[in-house]
Amino acid sequence: TGHFTYDPGFTSTASCESQITYIDGDKGILLYRGYPIDQLAENGDFLETCYLLLYGELPTAAEKADFDYRVTRHTMLHEQMNRFFSGFRRDAHPMAVMVGVVGALSAFYHDSTDISDPYQRMVASLRMIAKMPTIAAMAYKYSVGQPFVYPDNALDFSANFLKMCFSVPCEEYKPNPIYAKAMDRIFILHADHEQNASTSTVRLAGSSGANPFACIAAGIACLWGPAHGGANEAALNMLQEIGTPDRIPEFVARAKDKNDPFRLMGFGHRVYKNYDPRARIMQQTTHEVLGQLGMSNDPLLQVALELEKIALSDEYFIERKLYPNIDFYSGITLRALGFPKSMFTVLFAVARTVGWIAQWKEMIEDPGQRIGRPRQLYIGSPQREYIPVNARG
Ligand code: CMC
Repeated sequence: TGHFTYDPGFTSTASCESQITYIDGDKGILLYRGYPIDQLAENGDFLETCYLLLYGELPTAAEKADFDYRVTRHTMLHEQMNRFFSGFRRDAHPMAVMVGVVGALSAFYHDSTDISDPYQRMVASLRMIAKMPTIAAMAYKYSVGQPFVYPDNALDFSANFLKMCFSVPCEEYKPNPIYAKAMDRIFILHADHEQNASTSTVRLAGSSGANPFACIAAGIACLWGPAHGGANEAALNMLQEIGTPDRIPEFVARAKDKNDPFRLMGFGHRVYKNYDPRARIMQQTTHEVLGQLGMSNDPLLQVALELEKIALSDEYFIERKLYPNIDFYSGITLRALGFPKSMFTVLFAVARTVGWIAQWKEMIEDPGQRIGRPRQLYIGSPQREYIPVNARG
């Protein structure tokens, strides 16, 4: 058994070479293709970020217009897919619906199975980026019992998404540019994060040559967990449970108690041992959105700010370098935009789809690519003889 390095949780194993995203966890730096996340989030838009992650460079104006057009052409979902939704219980968690419906796309796009063809890889990438918001909005509409809303290709990515979620046939809908901008920024912040659990899942699934839609469904399943993308929903649940700032010390004490499994959701990160740069931008966006909505006194925001202050001055959190992560503030903003908690991780999935597909594409195009196949340290029984059932004592 001495041939392998034992590395549970892969804390010190690089699984691949990548040119896409760089993180310096000690300094709190995050770069997409070399560009700092704050510059992209403040100045760019989500489709531009998609182009950058997929192709490695920021697009020229002409390239951007062409890319936007090509993505937009794929926003519709096959009409037959509508029936897929009605197979779910109406109170199904939207993430459960996402895992199923996105996986089912592999049954609609057989041509994508030919991953050796660069054209098919490109079309699969565009389809995935374009259809995720449509599927996510349908999962939401299904959960609230409202009719599905078709995509509106005259709108930009995020305004269209909000329209598909929040417009109803009986009322006129005007996209609010402030909401759309905030949504776009949230998508940019979540677009990629190198070899996190869900991205590693997509790469591992893809390394066998599986259909890319099925690989993304595997990534969605992994993202769902509360230690990963599910943390935004869990963080808001926690803030609501705390309710008022006077109850914070009780919860901080629980988080520090090793006999209590409770953790401060939205705190800590495997790689960041400094403030998560995404959390900084997210906090600023939360203030902007709540300010514009006249909700600056939102009690949950007050609890969050106070909790952050108390935790960051506490020995336990300082010693372990536990800072707020992106999920700490995103829930408060998404709630202000009108999303229920059950949709938070779905929105994360919409954004991360581009990261997953860019990483999948990079892997498939890597000439050194081999199937991912970790080894183990076997600690079970040594070899023994089979005993017939009647002879077993
Ligand atoms: N609250 C209280 N204690 C914590 C927390 C927390 N949120 N996070 C870590 N710790 C403690 C942990 O108990 C351990 O203490 P000790 O050394 O005394 O045993 C120490 O800090 C190191 O923690 P770990 O579990 O070994 O760290 P990890 O790298 O395996 O886990 C993590 C990282 C993000 C899963 C973890 O910090 C956590 O569970 N955080 C809460 C969930 C969360 O917010 N997840 C979102 C992550 S960012 C977005 C995303 O990835 O989707």
